[in-house]
Amino acid sequence: DSVLVHAPATIANLGCGFDVLGLALTAPYDVVRVSRSATPGVQIRHLDHYKLPTDPARNVAGGALLTLLRHAPAGTGFAVEITKGIMPGSGVGSSAASAAGAVVGANALLGNMFTPMQLVDFAMDGEAVASGARHADNIAPAIYGGFTLVRSVAPTLDVVPLAAPPLWVTVVHPQIEVKTADARKVLPTSVPLNRAVRQWANVGGLVAGFLTADYELIGRSLEDYIVEPARQPLIPGLAEARRQALAAGALGGGISGSGPSVFMLNVTEVTAQEVGAAMGRVFAALGIDFRVYVGPI
Ligand code: HSE
Repeated sequence: DSVLVHAPATIANLGCGFDVLGLALTAPYDVVRVSRSATPGVQIRHLDHYKLPTDPARNVAGGALLTLLRHAPAGTGFAVEITKGIMPGSGVGSSAASAAGAVVGANALLGNMFTPMQLVDFAMDGEAVASGARHADNIAPAIYGGFTLVRSVAPTLDVVPLAAPPLWVTVVHPQIEVKTADARKVLPTSVPLNRAVRQWANVGGLVAGFLTADYELIGRSLEDYIVEPARQPLIPGLAEARRQALAAGALGGGISGSGPSVFMLNVTEVTAQEVGAAMGRVFAALGIDFRVYVGPI
């Protein structure tokens, strides 16, 4: 009894939607094999070179499964093998993917006894192992696919899966370190009302743009007026990379999750490739190594 899950990278925040909007990519992804085990509890093995902890309580997939097991029949056991295709710390939901893949695989082996919403709830405990915060903006799109809104986390989790039009995503990952915990420390604790108004106007516009496949509305609604200005100094070249991406035809974009990756949404694959090259030149000029991913959502 074993299942193999492809658990995708995701873009959290998606510009203006800090901690609430997210989008699943088709690549990169983690490969998570979950097998039934005669031994109750969870065993984790990593088949990659990242040297991540394999103690279930300290592993994102383990943390998620330990919570799931509290709701499963007594004596249930799972063995999990993870091959990470998503580089940890890159800003495209690496920990969320492993946690999501583990609970989706376990649920399949349990005859799908849990709803996707419950799986998001369990996987958030895995995500918390890595980031210390229970947020679902990477987990929700990793489990539901596509574009999601996390309308509420507490007291009740409320995930709203939303339709998305065809889009090509460019992700440029500069090889610098930005820890999510550090990127959350720089955030303002209060926001002037006029800035908050602009932000929720954009969130509404972005959701409407996705639902009506209005690419221009998507483009003019992506900007984040609250979080990204505070985080911009953590990513050298960000402002120039954005300028070059827009000049190359991107609809818009910003920091992916808490960074350091930067994403741009595009209508065509050709534009997405050109946008990746244009942003890459900015990081190259600063002497920063980078990787570029281009793919459809
Ligand atoms: N919404 C989160 C943040 C995503 O921006 O801090 C990071 O995992």
